[in-house]
Amino acid sequence: MATENHRPDTVTQTRQPNDPGTAEGWDARYSSAGRLWTSDVNPALVAEVSDVDPGNALDVGSGEGADARWLADRGWKVTALDISQVAVDRAREIDPRPSITWLRADVIADDVPATDVDLVTLHYFPIPKANLDAARRLVDAVGPGGSLLVVAHAPEGVRAHGFDPEAYVQPRDFADLLGDEWEIVTDETRERGRAAGGGHHTHDVVLCARRRAD
Ligand SMILES: C[S@@+](CC[C@H](N)C(=O)[O-])C[C@H]1O[C@@H](n2cnc3c(N)ncnc32)[C@H](O)[C@@H]1O
Repeated sequence: MATENHRPDTVTQTRQPNDPGTAEGWDARYSSAGRLWTSDVNPALVAEVSDVDPGNALDVGSGEGADARWLADRGWKVTALDISQVAVDRAREIDPRPSITWLRADVIADDVPATDVDLVTLHYFPIPKANLDAARRLVDAVGPGGSLLVVAHAPEGVRAHGFDPEAYVQPRDFADLLGDEWEIVTDETRERGRAAGGGHHTHDVVLCARRRAD
């Protein structure tokens, strides 16, 4: 993966301290509760990755780390990154094991800290549409034979929380970035099993794709 920063400077300049996409906004949210999310792994990760041979994984927007821990339990060497230092510190405190690197980084503002990744996974990670380049960098981080898993809440649940799903990069937008060397494994909306977000998030939009080996 190229190491140059592709992100235009204007993007950070337009983000405000209370914007839910800023480090300050997420730190405030995490600090407001002892625990923000369930400690259960996300169901789509289990469904899509259980049969994939472990390698190195990048969990983007890793939050309190449930998905990273599940991957590490199955032999993956995980880089779990999040924009919130509060979330990263909490996740590391829960699980300080060396096969997980807990990293504070903003994948919109910073370079992706990995190349030739065997699995890039994003769950409910809000990339504003204006930052499509960040999505492109994540796609480029996947090495030959590697997988990309992007899971978003279905639009109805997002609207119920007062957000416009169209303002954010969706799994469909990731699919549009994939070239001929990619094979789509899963592209569907499915019941989540356990509703999240106070019951609003009942369905996941799931994109899983594999980059063909050289
Ligand atoms: C809805 S939470 C999902 C957390 C976790 N993936 C899960 O499913 O439990 C979104 C996460 O993305 C992180 N995040 C938001 N913007 C980010 C950015 N630009 N770079 C890295 N992480 C970011 C937030 O701090 C938050 O932990």
